[in-house]
Amino acid sequence: MSGTPIVRHMAIDMSKPAPKYWLCGSPVLTSFAYAMSAIFPVGERFFVNAVRAALPQLDSTALQATARAFMGQESHHAHLHVQYNARAQAEGFQVHALTARLEPVSRWVQRATSVATQLAITAAFEHFTAMLSTQVLAEDDFLGDAPEPHRTLWRWHAA
Ligand SMILES: [Fe+2]
Ligand SMILES: [Fe+2]
Repeated sequence: MSGTPIVRHMAIDMSKPAPKYWLCGSPVLTSFAYAMSAIFPVGERFFVNAVRAALPQLDSTALQATARAFMGQESHHAHLHVQYNARAQAEGFQVHALTARLEPVSRWVQRATSVATQLAITAAFEHFTAMLSTQVLAEDDFLGDAPEPHRTLWRWHAA
């Protein structure tokens, strides 16, 4: 991926009724998608903190603008995934437990590693999410006939 990320502000009605196993009617696939969502806010806050810590070292204003746009994008992703995760929890998926286990790990990595390492971790994870996003956007079958709000949430995050 290249260029400056576009911060796509979005409000999604997370209360829209849909079948519990919304992804292909599968408990496994639905749980996998919700597990991904459970880790996103923790990961995205890690990314934002890493890039914020590196800002003073960016001497190009263009690069600083790109970094700030990335921070805005990932912050907004985290914001909506927190709302989405509350829906998942209310449906009986134990996403909050997963998030709670991950948070101290994320904080420890942030304390124990250099900013350069944190940026490398961020880049590695973003390569993975970029591959996933390409599939979500390019393959009509990937989300199956996923209903709202799931379809919009995942396509918006992938864009
Ligand atoms: Fe994101
Ligand atoms: Fe991202």
